Amino acid sequence: MHRDRLACAGMTKERLKSPRARLFVALDLPEEIRDGIVAWGRQELIDPALRVVAPESLHITLAFLGYMPEKEIGPLGEIVEDLRTAAPQIRLGDPIARPSLRRARVFALPVESPTVLELQAELEEKLVAKRLYKPENRPFWPHVTVARVKPEGKGSKRPRRIEEPPGALPQDLLQAAVCRRVTLYRSELKPSGAEYLPLAQVKLR
Ligand code: 2AM
Repeated sequence: MHRDRLACAGMTKERLKSPRARLFVALDLPEEIRDGIVAWGRQELIDPALRVVAPESLHITLAFLGYMPEKEIGPLGEIVEDLRTAAPQIRLGDPIARPSLRRARVFALPVESPTVLELQAELEEKLVAKRLYKPENRPFWPHVTVARVKPEGKGSKRPRRIEEPPGALPQDLLQAAVCRRVTLYRSELKPSGAEYLPLAQVKLR
């Protein structure tokens, strides 16, 4: 009897917990840039230790929100739809291994753009004003993650060694491009990798 009551209390507690979603806001890339990265990646992201990011998952994260109550999706979407910063012009840079080439966990393309910094600051300020976000301690580093390094073995946290690091970007990918779309994404973690579902969107002018 006592045990049943405990089980019951546990269930109620479980039900009282509001459903949560893993969320982030990102600046999407124009199609030609995405296609260009994919074509470059076919030539350069070839080391077998790399897990290449899917074309539809290439983006510039502006704010990683983590697990949030689903009821916050509406207010978060409104903040995204209300962004006022002009559509940023960006320039991609050659791939960088993080934290270092010897111990690389990810390869990312750095993004140079004063307007992306402005956009991120506007978003962060609006999220903080509504108590929906705690800013990160480290400064914002705009980038596009293009590949993650597989672990050494099952259950291991150490990344495999990269023998063939990716080479430079072609000239056309180094040209300036305008990014117009900002999206609130839900990230669903699956055994095959994370899937990102768009929940709200704005087209910047
Ligand atoms: P990354 O590309 O540099 O890994 C969804 O996970 C997006 O949120 C990714 O683009 C990821 O950035 C970003 N992100 C930022 N901080 C994160 C964190 N602490 N955990 C998971 N993803 C994070």
